[in-house]
Amino acid sequence: MATLPLYAVMGNPVNHSLSPRIHGMFSSACDIPLEYRAILVEPDQFEQAVQQFASQGGRGLNITVPFKLDAWHMATQRSERAQLAGAVNTLAINSPGELFGDNTDGAGIVRDISINLEKPVAGTRILIIGAGGAVRGVLGPLLAEQPEHIHIANRTASKAVDLAASFHDHGPVSGSGLDAIGDEKWGIVINGTAASLAGQVPDLPEGLFAPAALAYDMMYSNQPTPFMVWAAAHGAGETSDGLGMLVEQAAESFHVWHGVRPETLGVIAALRGG
Ligand code: ATR
Repeated sequence: MATLPLYAVMGNPVNHSLSPRIHGMFSSACDIPLEYRAILVEPDQFEQAVQQFASQGGRGLNITVPFKLDAWHMATQRSERAQLAGAVNTLAINSPGELFGDNTDGAGIVRDISINLEKPVAGTRILIIGAGGAVRGVLGPLLAEQPEHIHIANRTASKAVDLAASFHDHGPVSGSGLDAIGDEKWGIVINGTAASLAGQVPDLPEGLFAPAALAYDMMYSNQPTPFMVWAAAHGAGETSDGLGMLVEQAAESFHVWHGVRPETLGVIAALRGG
């Protein structure tokens, strides 16, 4: 029997990753047979793991925490959006020495918010909480949709100010500490902090949400995240976790590798169903 084209996600931890299930569903729906593994990589072993995977004939990798920056450094060629994100979540292995690095996270959140949740990004005032790698990864694609303004607010104010400054050429963006958000209202509020992982909510002021505003947590969970619970109790019209973003970034990776964009709504529904 011929071996199937090989793909994988690398991360640490990785055993709860939904990517093998998602790519398995895409593979069946698009009739593109492939094998997709989850590979646990030790913190200092990333480069060797990628080289070994490539030498086994692996064609493509998704990269998750904590290796997106290492993947960016390892890529021999990068898309413009990966360049801007400063991180790579998708590698296409053209030959063992030729690694094309892309970042599909920003496209994933844009598609989930604007298409799946039907909340236009264009012309909307967006507040993003957090200023780490996850937020940097999505800023370029969000700004490219031409929101009215994006404000980045972070616990450590200087990181938000610096991140906003590095994206000034890409659209209207500002930064501050959480205590200096001001009293304006926002149509979309995105939690891009790691707080939900620890069961916490960033220390946010009251009165953030415009009527019918969307509160979006980039984390996903079987239960509403602490941020979603807080937002629903503080005036958000609608809340969402980041499961749709996860599926959409995977669909975009699938497109990078196979040139086909899989249907996503059925996959999101199947994952929500358990
Ligand atoms: P990631 O790659 O997931 O973005 P990161 O680069 O370590 O991870 O960034 C984590 C982000 O979550 C930061 O913006 C961090 O705020 P600080 O820069 O002040 O550290 C934010 N964060 C983590 N826990 C938080 C909490 N309990 N409340 C508010 N912000 C939090």
